[in-house]
This record gives sequence, structure tokens and C-alpha cells, in this order.
Amino acid sequence: MIITVASTKGGPGKTTLSLCLADHWRRAGRAVEVLDVDPNRNLSQWLKGAKSTIPCTVVDEDDVIDAAAAAEERSEIVVIDVAGALARGLVYAIGVASAVLIPARPDQKDAIEAARTYQHVTTAERQAQRFKSNASIPAAAVLMQVNKRTQAAGFARDQLAAFKVPLLTTEIPLRAAYQNYSFFGMPLDDAAVRSDFAELAEAVEAMTNG
Ligand SMILES: Nc1ncnc2c1ncn2[C@@H]1O[C@H](COP(=O)(O)OP(=O)(O)O)[C@@H](O)[C@H]1O
Ligand SMILES: [Mg+2]
Repeated sequence: MIITVASTKGGPGKTTLSLCLADHWRRAGRAVEVLDVDPNRNLSQWLKGAKSTIPCTVVDEDDVIDAAAAAEERSEIVVIDVAGALARGLVYAIGVASAVLIPARPDQKDAIEAARTYQHVTTAERQAQRFKSNASIPAAAVLMQVNKRTQAAGFARDQLAAFKVPLLTTEIPLRAAYQNYSFFGMPLDDAAVRSDFAELAEAVEAMTNG
């Protein structure tokens, strides 16, 4: 299966989500690899720095379709991290996905870009339906950096609902462990992060099965 993590916006947590999902599945003994389609190469450089054993391929955006097919031959699970912009890489990565995750912080701009990204998923789905009438690309937003003490997450949920963007009930809290990993360590070394992603990974697998 191919899990594409996409948003037309920079900063909502695409790379964090890609990395943590892949590391969750790696720790669970699943054959997982990642494709880094962001020209900033944040994910691949970070994995190299952390000496991670998760296989990672840097992919030019025009090569996404071929690279995804090759990765799917090698690994049970392929996670694709794309750049935060409306670019060909995002469109292709959505087109090959078994499911699309759209991270959004509790922020109006993130919700608007999540809706815009979701529109690209429904467009890709309609294209696929020209050839297979029941084709579907399940997609959902994931709220990231949720602070339970503030109202913003509620505003973001309402806004996503108004835009008719499906939202996973599993949300990723704001945690120091997610901020610190850019300097040292793996986020999943933290027990709370492991538990966040055990729940999220289950929800993602349910999206692809259901
Ligand atoms: N749940 C979280 N709690 C705290 N900080 C987070 C969380 N998720 C992501 N971050 C931080 O937000 C920043 C942007 O995340 P990143 O995954 O690089 O976004 P993107 O790939 O979408 O640009 C990073 O510094 C990351 O450490
Ligand atoms: Mg990124």
C-alpha cells in the first residue's frame, strides 16, 4: 500500500507524520520504505543523520509514478512525503496513493490548504473513475500540534467540516518530543509519541481497508 502525506502548505507536519508512521511500521516489523519527493530533502537528510534503517529514496517529482511502482514491489508499505506546494509531485503522489493523509495544524491557513489538497484528491479520484467506476482514493485530514487547552482545534474541526474534508478522529498532540527530534533522537523513542502513532497507524490502515 502507498500512503501519501500531502498538503499544499509548508509546515503542517508532513515530514513528521511520514517519519513517525514509517518508524511505527518499521518497529512493528513491517517492510516499510519512504520516498522523499520534497526538493528540500528534509526527510532523507534527517534519516541519514539519525542513521535510521528505514530505506529512503530521493525522487524527482516527475519520477513519482515509476518510483512508487518500484517501491511497492519491494515493500509492503510505502510512505511518500511531498513538498508543501501545489506541484506535479503532489498531484502524482496523490494519483498513486492507497490513502492520502493531509496534516493540518489548528490554524485557518492550514485548514484552507487542507481543503485545497483534498480537492486534488477528489479530482484524481474522478480521473481514475473514468477507467474503473468504483475507483477510490481515501483521504483525511489529521490535526497536528493539538493543544487541548486552547479552542483553536475546535475552530479547525468546524472549518474542515464546513469544507467537507474528512477528518481522522485520532489527533497528534503538541509535544516537545516532536519539536526536539529535529535536533536529536527519533520521535518514537518517546513513549507518548509511540502511543500517538500506534493509534494513528491503525486508523490509516482502516482507511485503506474500508
Ligand atoms: N505534534 C507536534 N508537536 C510539536 N511540534 C511539532 C509537531 N509536529 C510537527 N512539529 C514541528 O513542526 C515543524 C514542522 O514540521 P514538519 O513535519 O517539518 O512539516 P512539513 O514537512 O509539513 O513542512 C517541525 O519543527 C516539527 O518538529
Ligand atoms: Mg517536510
